[in-house]
Amino acid sequence: MTLIDEVKSRSDIVDVVASYVDLDTSSRNPKARCPFHTERTPSFYVFPETGTWRCFGACATGGDVLAFVMKQEGIEFKEALHRLADRAGVNYSTQQANVQTQGAPKQTVIEANEAAAGWFSQMLLSSEGESVREYLASRGIDSDTATRRGLGFAPSGGTLTLAGHLRASHVSPEAARAARLVVQADDRSWRDFFRNRLTIEIRDRSGKVIGFGARSLDGSEPKYLNTPQTSAFDKSRVLYGIDWAGDSMRQSKRAVVVEGYMDVITAQEHGFTDVVASMGTAVTPDQLKTLSQIVSSGDEAGEVVLCLDSDAAGQEATLRALETAWQQFGSRLSGSGGSRGRNLAVKVATPVEGKDPDEAIRADSWAWRESLNNALPLIDFIMQANARRFDISSGEGKARAAEAMSPLIFAVDNDYDRDVYWERLATLLDVSTERLRSMASRSGSRPSFQAARIDQRRSGDDSVSATQLGTILGSAEVGIEEHLLVLVLERPELREFAEAVPPQHFLDTVNRELFTRWAQMPTLDEMLDALSPDVAEKAGRLRTVELPPSDHARRVEEITQCVRRLRERYMRSLLRDAETALKEEENSLEGEEREQLRNRTLDPSDQLNKVFQAGATGRV
Ligand code: UTP
Ligand code: MN
Repeated sequence: MTLIDEVKSRSDIVDVVASYVDLDTSSRNPKARCPFHTERTPSFYVFPETGTWRCFGACATGGDVLAFVMKQEGIEFKEALHRLADRAGVNYSTQQANVQTQGAPKQTVIEANEAAAGWFSQMLLSSEGESVREYLASRGIDSDTATRRGLGFAPSGGTLTLAGHLRASHVSPEAARAARLVVQADDRSWRDFFRNRLTIEIRDRSGKVIGFGARSLDGSEPKYLNTPQTSAFDKSRVLYGIDWAGDSMRQSKRAVVVEGYMDVITAQEHGFTDVVASMGTAVTPDQLKTLSQIVSSGDEAGEVVLCLDSDAAGQEATLRALETAWQQFGSRLSGSGGSRGRNLAVKVATPVEGKDPDEAIRADSWAWRESLNNALPLIDFIMQANARRFDISSGEGKARAAEAMSPLIFAVDNDYDRDVYWERLATLLDVSTERLRSMASRSGSRPSFQAARIDQRRSGDDSVSATQLGTILGSAEVGIEEHLLVLVLERPELREFAEAVPPQHFLDTVNRELFTRWAQMPTLDEMLDALSPDVAEKAGRLRTVELPPSDHARRVEEITQCVRRLRERYMRSLLRDAETALKEEENSLEGEEREQLRNRTLDPSDQLNKVFQAGATGRV
């Protein structure tokens, strides 16, 4: 976990805000008169569940806990980070890498977890757990399956608490705390971390319970609450289901990666024994490394099949996973299959329309099996993504697709494979190979040209990944924030199209800080000097991304699209928050007061309309 994540997860936004502002905490979303402008009635709200705050009044600002401290204290990001770190007792000065492993030793945490797991499982089977059992049954999971798959129930508290159970079973309070099974409440008493949730044991390869995921049962957010960082649990390394899938993956030399807990459970129950989950985020380098060690032996390459959700976010995750894959393995990643002693073949399974694996398997497990068997090697996946991106029925579309794809094919390091791909692309575009080659060589993406550009940034061995990665990034729905950053970091001439974007349109803390600095600093070097390590690391990573060749007009179009989409997303989140605040207030206010509030909170909706209108006329 990065320092930023650590600080954010350990800072209670309500606490922090309340230390500056007279917060009315009587409701679910505490409110106050906005500290950033003068007002008579409160329009400043804190949303503990998302860890954000927002003023619906005149100043119309908002953000996360770091943004609040920056604004309140009038300080820079780095300083706000350090103040919050001090406040939360996170050590940032030395050995950042070790900060997360304080607390009880791993074994103690695991023992506390095992005790909790037993209790959760017992609760599920007890009369308390009846409605949860019904919920599971409606998803096709009976009690035996639930027990076999480590499912349980964390009750909503009252007299029946995990804290109480742990005490009775002589688990020390320190161990319970270090395992993050209990948390301290406002009145300093300890209470259960998971309340009224379906619990899911997360185990390591050898079957030890290292943490939990827990699904909300009443629609409250977040949908899944997971164990925070402990000495036994590091979300970026964990692969959910590895205890069930490990042996099977070794034998089949294949690992299938899905997104969710329920996807793994359903897959395992239906005999897909080599399936694990990345737990909602894109596959991390650590996860890929673990998988490649399991599926590859000696000279023989194993295979990782990425099989992610079919919604836009899922697609985005797929492409981010590919990005990670390339960063991790560079040219050793095989696009064409597991031959010739390469380390790992990464493939992408195209999802069954509109379904996550859990639903797809239940609907038609045979079709799902086929979709795995038909998973496309990376380069083919990208080829198809490009074919969809351009209208390849037109001459111009063909030319553009050829232009986007040719650097990728030139970069394939094996003559035979390269020829295969030229032919495949020719077939896809419905042109002859000769014609395709001449299109490609006119497009300015000849190998010499590419090689020269890459050499400035990276050593020769990684050049394949840099070029290919750039093509993916340029061609698909990768994170908009990151794509915008890549564009502005690489193309100074695009500055004017992005510098007016309000930083709060970036939801990711690191991206926001990076963007803020970029907007302030005239040169990259100055900017890099001013960044804190986490942010500088990201800047470095984004700068190694190679953009596919394109002309100025198209880049401008691309960047204005990014800007517009960020703004739309921001306005939608504003509206969502306003609705949340309104709903709550309506219950407590009457008559005229309620009317006033309604008028105030309807404002964002007007603003959103304005945005769409402005968007239509192309004004930023
Ligand atoms: P999904 O939202 O796709 O949920 O998140 P799901 O697995 O399909 O769950 P059901 O079917 O609605 O019960 C995919 C995964 O992302 C992580 C979890 O690991 C989840 O399984 N996630 C999701 C979180 O960690 N927190 C969240 O709030 C949401
Ligand atoms: Mn699901």
